[in-house]
Amino acid sequence: MSETKPPVVALEALRFGWPGQPDLLDLDDLRIAAGERLFLEGPSGSGKSTLLNLLAGILVPRAGRLRVLGQDLANLRAGARDRFRADHVGFIFQQFNLVPYLGLVENVTLGCRFSPARRARLGDAAAQAREARRLVAALGLDVDALDRRPVTGLSVGQQQRVAAARALIGAPELVIADEPTSALDATARAAFVELLFAEVERAGSALVFVSHDPALAALFPRSLSLPALNRAAATEAA
Ligand SMILES: Nc1ncnc2c1ncn2[C@@H]1O[C@H](COP(=O)(O)OP(=O)(O)O)[C@@H](O)[C@H]1O
Ligand SMILES: [Mg+2]
Repeated sequence: MSETKPPVVALEALRFGWPGQPDLLDLDDLRIAAGERLFLEGPSGSGKSTLLNLLAGILVPRAGRLRVLGQDLANLRAGARDRFRADHVGFIFQQFNLVPYLGLVENVTLGCRFSPARRARLGDAAAQAREARRLVAALGLDVDALDRRPVTGLSVGQQQRVAAARALIGAPELVIADEPTSALDATARAAFVELLFAEVERAGSALVFVSHDPALAALFPRSLSLPALNRAAATEAA
């Protein structure tokens, strides 16, 4: 028999609610395989960001089981969950969360600073910086022109690409993007998604991408829709 790797995400009968609140998420079953690309949509307040935080081990479920790469995150203490996330999950935050006093390349290499696994794939600091520059260029930025400028002075589209490179560096198994394209026009959004696809494919990362732009769903092989009520229905796109 061939060796089978655990899915990147395996979620069963998961329920989550904020303290003192009824369930916000109630998901029967969700599996995301290595390298798979999933589009997550739903109205504002439906729990998209909350689900991403569960997948990243920032939040833990109220009930049910959530395993990432075979690891039940609820069984890890907070510190171990943080280390697990640093090694295995690249997160593109909605507000990008770039560090204003670091340069562009340093912001990207930050993605592996807390991760022995991601550093091990890249090598020493020079190799990490080389990969940071390669990623930023592959995502469409002129790194030489931009590296000396404060990152907070970059345009939204440029900051988004820096945040994406930081998430991708060191090839984490799971890349999560929370509405990273909402400030861009439709053409720029689609172009960003295509560049992101090329890099997640190169890294072998699975991608979970949240947007409330339904036009982007067509670019993804698979979509999950969170309804305004607390019952989620999976819809497989053709
Ligand atoms: N830290 C929090 N504490 C309590 N409620 C929260 C918190 N964060 C989000 N919520 C609530 O959870 C619900 C879902 O939020 P969110 O996951 O951000 O939705 P979406 O990303 O789909 O817009 C909303 O009603 C929101 O107000
Ligand atoms: Mg959100």
